[in-house]
Amino acid sequence: MKPTAELAAELNQSLQGASAHDIMAAALRTFGHGIALSSSLSIEDQVLTDMAVKIDPKVRIFTLDTGRLFPETYQLIDKTAMHYGISIATYFPQHEAVEQMVRAEGINLFYNSIESRHRCCQVRKLEPLARAFAGCNAWICGLRRQQSVTRHDMQAVEWDAMHGLVKVNPLIDWSEEQVWAYIREHHVPYNKLHDKGFPSIGCEPCTRAVKPGDDIRSGRWWWESPDHRECGLHRNNS
Ligand code: ADX
Ligand code: SF4
Repeated sequence: MKPTAELAAELNQSLQGASAHDIMAAALRTFGHGIALSSSLSIEDQVLTDMAVKIDPKVRIFTLDTGRLFPETYQLIDKTAMHYGISIATYFPQHEAVEQMVRAEGINLFYNSIESRHRCCQVRKLEPLARAFAGCNAWICGLRRQQSVTRHDMQAVEWDAMHGLVKVNPLIDWSEEQVWAYIREHHVPYNKLHDKGFPSIGCEPCTRAVKPGDDIRSGRWWWESPDHRECGLHRNNS
């Protein structure tokens, strides 16, 4: 189905009050093979993987390997693929772009400035994401409104103007407790770093553990102010 802002708004309207499972099922039904789940292997994405595979074992799932992920995340990619008997398509950055960036600004350029940090996310995540979208009309993400001030206005189904795709966020209204309850009830594999004080996990140099009770995203790009803590995957969505 051709992706448009109108279609996103209609779907969102028709799914008001629907459960995460029903949002997922409706999205898979509407877009068929034109939809993919973008997974960072977070607890939210693991819940979505479990839901999606149980509805359609052939659902397309991809992950962006920035080259800077934690060893525990790499282990979880394999473990998840084996657990569900699926393959998770892995997209890598273009090596020339990484080499040029690192030569110009150093291997850990993200600590230098917000611009440098965005450049690294652009090269290591956004460019591969654009390639992962080939053949897609829609994508599924694990965003939740409660995750951050930058996510309060997001909808279950919305128009992603930046990528020209419909974006589906089945867990948009879920609390962190609901996510963990699902993980435990359905024995979903999860990243062992969550047991070591990491509520939100991205690239290793840009993620650190937080103290109990701290904001769940405060360990992501911790040196930047909270309203900057997005990597660009989820900006400019209206
Ligand atoms: S981020 O923008 O700050 O990195 P976050 O870690 O909260 O995002 O993840 C939000 C959603 O973005 C995930 O549920 C997933 O759909 C997508 N996402 C983030 N990082 C990746 C990744 N490395 N590979 C694939 N999808 C990702
Ligand atoms: Fe680069 Fe950090 Fe962004 Fe990962 S999160 S792509 S290491 S700036």
